[in-house]
Amino acid sequence: MKTLTDLDLTDSRVLVRVDFNVPQNDDGKVLDDTRIRAALPTLRHLLDKNAACVLMSHLGRPKGEPVAHLSLAPVAEKLAELLPDNRIRHCEEVVGARAEEMARSLSGGEILLLENLRFHPGEKSNDDGFARDLAELGDIYVNDAFAACHRKHASVHAITKHFPAEKRAAGQLVEREIEALDKVVANPQQPLLAVFGGAKVPDKLEAIEALIDQAGQILIGGAMAYTFLRAQGVSTGASKVEEDRLDAAREILGKAGDKLLLPTDHVMSMEDEVRTGEEITGDWMGMDIGPDTADRYSEAIRKAATVVWNGPMGKIEEERFFSGTRQIAEAMAESSGVTVVGGGETGQAVHKIGVEDKLTHLSTGGGAFLDYLAHGSLPALDALKED
Ligand code: 3PG
Repeated sequence: MKTLTDLDLTDSRVLVRVDFNVPQNDDGKVLDDTRIRAALPTLRHLLDKNAACVLMSHLGRPKGEPVAHLSLAPVAEKLAELLPDNRIRHCEEVVGARAEEMARSLSGGEILLLENLRFHPGEKSNDDGFARDLAELGDIYVNDAFAACHRKHASVHAITKHFPAEKRAAGQLVEREIEALDKVVANPQQPLLAVFGGAKVPDKLEAIEALIDQAGQILIGGAMAYTFLRAQGVSTGASKVEEDRLDAAREILGKAGDKLLLPTDHVMSMEDEVRTGEEITGDWMGMDIGPDTADRYSEAIRKAATVVWNGPMGKIEEERFFSGTRQIAEAMAESSGVTVVGGGETGQAVHKIGVEDKLTHLSTGGGAFLDYLAHGSLPALDALKED
């Protein structure tokens, strides 16, 4: 895959796909700028070469038409704070006459951020005409939107055909992400240990299955653990169980055998009461892994040479159910092995605990992270690589 150093950037207008899908409050204020900061190395590289940059991103999930609170205007303001020496403009169109005019009038070292790609129906349908209109806005295409590379959408997929191979490349964030994730999926240092949590079993099934052969152990926590426990016939009280995934969980349990570890004690709640115990019965609901499980999992993490983690161990929105996740994050931070973490909620937890700098890599990807673990590649990256 070509990277920025393979490009001839002389006098160029570079169309850069970034992932600025960031959390905002009701007034549009950006609450977490991690993904914007993650794109800065690529942007600085291009701006230093005096390239003009046309940026495109999606935000949220509008259905092919404008939604006021999902405008990228506040994101452009945030970007201007982070790059105070460069002129940054926002275009209220995705494609069209105004976007073309603004893109054409850009000088070297300036940035134009187009409006939310998903305000146009062609983005999600991978429409070739829409991809061509976007491609008109730049001479060179750079994909630095790792977190969107699992999507077959126009700005990451169909668009690649509109640039010759020597005029398209991956940005530095994509490069860093792939390099880190390959430490897990391609010949990882052994023993490899995988930790999965979070609420939804279906999102993780493929990644778990793909890691069964390579990993020495797979540790399960979070709400998904209750589906696995129920699949084993263990009582889970009123815990959230995905009934329609019990067969899939049984299949994974069968394939993984004793490599797959489940919580053996739990923090549980019933109305306002919270307690810790080994059995969840009646109206009690599992909310976090218990202290013994957290100790056992932490010990396993410390012994591994490579650890990959996705999904919190409990309902982290509430402080009283945060300790399992905290302990896992701290064990990873103390590890001398390779530690790779991904997923939106997991990333938030890592930031809250303040251990991001002690990890080998904290991915910006959620679905993209899991899909890369499952398949070792992503559709948008495959399209970018094609000759
Ligand atoms: C993400 O947040 O994982 C990416 O920005 C992709 O967003 P999507 O799931 O709405 O496609």
